[in-house]
Amino acid sequence: MEKEKITVSLIKADVGGFPGHSTVRAELKDKAKERMEKAKREGLLVSYHVLNAGDDLQLLMSHRKGVDSPDIHGLAWETFEAATEVAKELKLHGAGQDLLVDAFSGNIRGMGPGIAEMEFTERGSEPLIAFMMDKTEPGAFNYPIYKIFADPFNTAGLVIDPVMHDGFVFEVWDIKEKKEVFLRCPEELYDLLALIGAKSKYVIKRVYPKETSPLPKDEPVAVISTEKLYFTAGKYVGKDDPVALVRAQSGLPAVGEVLEPFSLPYLVSGWMRGSHNGPIIPVPFRYSQCTRFDGPPRVIAAGFQISNGKLVGTADMFDDPAFDLARRKAQEIADYVRAHGPFEPHRLPVEEMEYTTLPDVLKKLEGRFEKVE
Ligand code: F6R
Ligand code: MG
Ligand code: MG
Repeated sequence: MEKEKITVSLIKADVGGFPGHSTVRAELKDKAKERMEKAKREGLLVSYHVLNAGDDLQLLMSHRKGVDSPDIHGLAWETFEAATEVAKELKLHGAGQDLLVDAFSGNIRGMGPGIAEMEFTERGSEPLIAFMMDKTEPGAFNYPIYKIFADPFNTAGLVIDPVMHDGFVFEVWDIKEKKEVFLRCPEELYDLLALIGAKSKYVIKRVYPKETSPLPKDEPVAVISTEKLYFTAGKYVGKDDPVALVRAQSGLPAVGEVLEPFSLPYLVSGWMRGSHNGPIIPVPFRYSQCTRFDGPPRVIAAGFQISNGKLVGTADMFDDPAFDLARRKAQEIADYVRAHGPFEPHRLPVEEMEYTTLPDVLKKLEGRFEKVE
């Protein structure tokens, strides 16, 4: 049965880079649009947008099928498969790399692609920002989501908008142990920070309104993809570049409050070979390609108003001189950290590197280590 609420699903996968891991070829996006258009014609989708964040193909869809819909997940899977065929013909790098299983079995979660989706009742005005990052991990959203929904120095509304004054509820996942906990802020702010500061283990999955908010309590106001390819496949198969959806305005953080955290090019893990710390750069769509040292990590922000389920857009939110200073700072930080070469903390600690030769080196030197008295 069709539902009245709207669902927005952002599903992404790297199905082939051009060249190397830098960006997505137009042919892949065209193929994806073809599939999406057909699904819209057939009534499965209300609307869609096809974008790329670096080498990741991004399918942003609105529909009335709810979250975890086999129809929508199946559509995304088939679209990635079709794009993979094109990538193979063009011999693009890592063609099909994020499609970890041979056959789709009802739900795309755990099969390779990253996914952020939420179902909610459309308000009179429903602004939505879709963030897409490349060359980093889901924990890279901890800092901005915390700032947006819990930091009064970022979000003035937490102090001066009576509807937001009571704060928000954070759903935090332990992505290694596959556990979740709900934390209420501002009351449990320090507990939240104790967890999410460890961003490779604890990630914010969703944010909900509090009981005092006029918004439905069970409808998320933000959602982040938390797929970790490393844990899905049991070995390194590519980066788990994350995406997020954030609703804004009228009792939620304003669009400008949602974008504000990105004025700081904060440090994230990923970058070259998924094994380095570096600054995240907010960029316009036209710079959504990774170059220097396969990066630096990037984020794009696509802005929409939702009208009767339709994603009216796209506004390229970081295409603005207001973010020039963040971009300049990011380049200076990139230069500075890069100078450390293979040394931590530029290079990640051994446990967090996506791949490492250390075991081989240790094996080779096995017989040569001598006891130190
Ligand atoms: C991929 C990534 C890249 C690659 C690197 C090596 O998301 O982060 O930095 O890890 O380019 O790639 P391969 O092993 O494909 O040559
Ligand atoms: Mg790639
Ligand atoms: Mg990528």
